[in-house]
Amino acid sequence: MENTIAIVMAAGKGTRMNSNKSKLVHQIYGKELVKRAVENARKSGIEEIIAVVGYQKEQVQSVLGDTVQYAYQEQMLGTGHAIMQAKNYLEGKDGKVVVLNGDVPILRPSTIKSLIEKNIERKEAATLLTAIYDNPNGYGRIIRNDGGNIEAIVEEKDATNEQRKIQEINSGIYCFDIQSLLNALDKLTPNNVQGEYYLTDVIKLMNEDGLRTGAVIVEDNTEILGVNDKIQLELLTRVLRTRINTEHMKNGVTIEDMNTTNIYDDVEIGADTIIHPNTIIKSNVKIGEDCEIGPNAYIREGCKLSNKVKVGSFVEIKKAIVGEGTKVPHLSYMGDCEIGTKCNIGCGTITCNYDGLNKSKTIIGDNVFIGSNTNLVAPVTVGNNAFIAAGSTVTEDVPENALAIARQRQINKEGWNLQ
Ligand code: UD1
Ligand code: CA
Repeated sequence: MENTIAIVMAAGKGTRMNSNKSKLVHQIYGKELVKRAVENARKSGIEEIIAVVGYQKEQVQSVLGDTVQYAYQEQMLGTGHAIMQAKNYLEGKDGKVVVLNGDVPILRPSTIKSLIEKNIERKEAATLLTAIYDNPNGYGRIIRNDGGNIEAIVEEKDATNEQRKIQEINSGIYCFDIQSLLNALDKLTPNNVQGEYYLTDVIKLMNEDGLRTGAVIVEDNTEILGVNDKIQLELLTRVLRTRINTEHMKNGVTIEDMNTTNIYDDVEIGADTIIHPNTIIKSNVKIGEDCEIGPNAYIREGCKLSNKVKVGSFVEIKKAIVGEGTKVPHLSYMGDCEIGTKCNIGCGTITCNYDGLNKSKTIIGDNVFIGSNTNLVAPVTVGNNAFIAAGSTVTEDVPENALAIARQRQINKEGWNLQ
């Protein structure tokens, strides 16, 4: 989105996490809250992103690195004060600025986009993202006039009893016209119950200047949920789980148990694949059509499964490229490996990919049969159509069509128990 900047507020303390870590670096599905907030802005099409950091800024900055620019808020004097710290990024620009919260991680990029579009279309100085809540306690309330136009936001602590009954709340997410915002920020005062510079007060100031302010009411209330404690962290993980699983089911994936299937971001799954309960599929995984995954499978980053692959119970795979029709049915660890088509990887097969210093690769050809309880000590290659006897510890390459037996012969001591 040209001429649009995002400011992500990420200076706050987050006391209720009861943690030594910044609230903002807590993760949902392996990704920090603040990183999610920034990525949502990026995915909406915004290129220039400013993070306002303060409390535990080193932690936040080590997560965001140079993907954003920074403004520093030394003292927490309110949301308006936070935005003032980013003023030098706004001055002299005439586009739009979207304000986001670092602790609101599952806002849809499409919602940000429509907020900006409405702002432009309706020529508003400020467009608020609002929601209708049955229980609006704790939020700023939206004050509309008789014609329905927005006049102000009143914080709960400053509201009259009558105003507290209003159910339309401020999400804390806004799109502003940059110059109108800068003008209003100059007039902010901390004359309120909390003695803070409220960003919300700019709405009233804009109205006094005869500028237009409006709102977009969010359709899905869960999008604007923030994280203040670990109970909300779990709640948002659940919301995201439902959202992701639903998308996959719409695409034709069968998920037997929505509640115990954890599919991280950026996973592709083909139609007619069945996912059994208690399965975890991490980011950047691609699974083909007609596969069968789980129960109790753990598919880690970087795996690519072709069609008709089976990854069964208590199987962990990592950076594994698995060819069509191959089965890894039970109790295996297959890491850093390439497996061809139509292989059978016996129960308890393990790639020994780590020697304490380095990770090494295991390459397995097509139509390979690996007997149960085999250790493949990497780096090692098994040729097409090879067989490996059960219980082998394979340390040397196995040629095509060969049978490898790498275990001690059995000795039977006749009559041993009769002596
Ligand atoms: C704010 C809004 C309120 C809205 C609510 C939605 C104001 C005055 N009120 O209230 O209308 O309903 O969000 O959640 O804006 N922050 C800073 N620096 C500060 C203060 C806050 O970076 O000096 C950050 C916080 O870390 C947080 C965000 O701004 O990410 C919101 O601050 P918070 O104090 O939670 O505002 P609320 O009182 O919840
Ligand atoms: Ca809040």
